[in-house]
Amino acid sequence: MTQPTMSHTPEDVSILPRNINFNLEQALATDWHGGDPFRTAFYNSLSIMFPLGEQQFIDSVKHYRDRITDPVLSENVRGFTAQESVHRREHQKYNEALCASRGYSLEKLEAPLRRRIALAQKHIPSIALLAATVAYEHWTAILADAVLRRPETFDGATPEMTRLWRWHAIEESEHKAVAFDVYRAVGGSEYLRRRLMLVVTVHFFLDAFRHMRLMLRNHKGSRVKLWIGGLRFLMSRQSPLHGLWRPWRDFFRRDFHPWDHDNRTVVATVLRALDLGVAAVE
Ligand SMILES: [Fe+2]
Ligand SMILES: [Fe+2]
Repeated sequence: MTQPTMSHTPEDVSILPRNINFNLEQALATDWHGGDPFRTAFYNSLSIMFPLGEQQFIDSVKHYRDRITDPVLSENVRGFTAQESVHRREHQKYNEALCASRGYSLEKLEAPLRRRIALAQKHIPSIALLAATVAYEHWTAILADAVLRRPETFDGATPEMTRLWRWHAIEESEHKAVAFDVYRAVGGSEYLRRRLMLVVTVHFFLDAFRHMRLMLRNHKGSRVKLWIGGLRFLMSRQSPLHGLWRPWRDFFRRDFHPWDHDNRTVVATVLRALDLGVAAVE
């Protein structure tokens, strides 16, 4: 008898990387999001997390590769790894160009996250590292959905930057259940999954605000005004954080699965408009 698959990604969603190179140098030298330093720093601060963070996501999932017997889930793990590898590459280029043109120290920006990952790999069980990846992948999935569903989040941004963020958001949506399905397949507990979401959420905001603080410290003009306006933006409809409380909270449901938030229609619509080319097996 055929075993039921452990993968709960819908059959019509393919997880294949689009090997795209973005040209971002010019935009990154400026406040590319509508000339607004705070909005620009917000997205730039997320980008700083990706090369180190996404490598850790790949490692934590790959650790369990040999325990996955389901061929569909194995294939999805390959797709997940390939997509995250291209994301890492493009965001590494992004971060290097950003730091070179704006005078930021990439080493200083990355240092605490680099240290935390090294400590976690040494002291935390592999299943907890995977639970952290599951939680981060939920964060990226709900942020991606917000960016795709509400085009106004990129009103005023330069076209190539908009294209990069939407490309990343599409692929985060496509592979949003892979780490989750691996976690379930290898017997990860509900308790650990929820607990790690709380830890990850605190770190996510601490990292983002630290990066923004460093990026905005040489701002000419009133920094108090800048931060007040910025915090207002984060609560506005143009913010990708707007309306995320409910989808974030859903993660704590016992029967939750990332595809309960079915965004295939919006992904397909944005994909058609972006014309990114065909995803390919590497
Ligand atoms: Fe990614
Ligand atoms: Fe991801």
